[in-house]
Amino acid sequence: MRLFKIYVISVLLLGCTHKNNKTNTMPPVTIEKKQFGITKEGQNVDQYLLKNKSGMQISIITYGGIITSWTAADKNGDYKDIVLGYNTLEEYETETPYFGALIGRYGNRIAKGRFSLNDTTYTLAVNNGLNHLHGGLKGFDKVIWEAESMTSDTEASLVLKYLSKDMEEGYPGNLATTVTYTLNDNDELRVKYEASTDKTTIVNLTQHSYFNLTADFNKTVLDHELTINADAFIPVDETLIPLGDLSEVSQTPFDFRASKRIGQQIDEENTQLINGLGYDHCWALNDQDKGMRFAASAYEPVSGRLLEVFTDEPGIQFYSGNFLDGSLPSKSGGVYEQRTGFCLETQHYPDSPNQEDFPSVVLHPNEKYESQTTFKLSVK
Ligand code: BGC
Repeated sequence: MRLFKIYVISVLLLGCTHKNNKTNTMPPVTIEKKQFGITKEGQNVDQYLLKNKSGMQISIITYGGIITSWTAADKNGDYKDIVLGYNTLEEYETETPYFGALIGRYGNRIAKGRFSLNDTTYTLAVNNGLNHLHGGLKGFDKVIWEAESMTSDTEASLVLKYLSKDMEEGYPGNLATTVTYTLNDNDELRVKYEASTDKTTIVNLTQHSYFNLTADFNKTVLDHELTINADAFIPVDETLIPLGDLSEVSQTPFDFRASKRIGQQIDEENTQLINGLGYDHCWALNDQDKGMRFAASAYEPVSGRLLEVFTDEPGIQFYSGNFLDGSLPSKSGGVYEQRTGFCLETQHYPDSPNQEDFPSVVLHPNEKYESQTTFKLSVK
């Protein structure tokens, strides 16, 4: 009987030890690399899959540093893809409204593709109506980045590097750029931007993911509840170039200081909404001297998914996917209709090189450009 008791206790103890072992052998944070495709010019493109312990998976390709998929749990713990994009490289090369891409050298618009630095006028591609948009004809979203991956116990990082040559797309200076994506176990993706130049130049880097927290790309994002930590936004003309002054958001459809459905006022008679075909504006974030702080959040009540964005940038472009028009194929089979995705692009203000009163985007040799944004997913 005594022996039996000892046997039972030992089995129970072993059981416990085994359980503990199980906790210790939770899948580690990992990065897997495989080929994604070959570009039309014959260049190899790799895909890196970052996975954390809770189950989030983010796929990033070396073409454009594009986030091609990003899974997040809903309130039942179901991980689903929450970003728009394509399944193949060919689709990205054929036509994309910058789905998931890194944007550079200048995120957003520069009026008429012209700016001056030290009495020299530079001319950039006019690739968006009358203006220059998102770095030009072959911006950072279309180049191949050199990649290096690393993991620790709790984080997976992908370091992407690209050297943009002097006068590439019309911008002065050799710009050595590094963007580091880091996924941690708290379902946070940190995006760190660094750059240096050998001639005075301008830089404004951002990330252009289109989110749909329903994870159903046939649904619009109009029922997402948005918050933006900004008392003012930047009004624009019909070509989406800033008029110059900031405008208070108070008493306007641009007031997202308390959370509000994206669709709540989007169709109101309002010149700014008409110019943007909806929301396509930069908000001047509060607390600009505080460094990293809360910038914006989006909550989707049916799935319970909550996205929070933190940044040290002065602005955030909230774009409600107005130009999506059903002409691009979705990765789940259908097409991307208008407002089936939204972007929260942290950045300096549009057209800053031509606006004296906006925070400067000038980078001098021997200075370091550094900027950081964190996207955090959770459920509520
Ligand atoms: C711009 C939109 C543009 C979209 C895709 C956004 O950052 O603000 O006007 O249509 O990018 O190009």
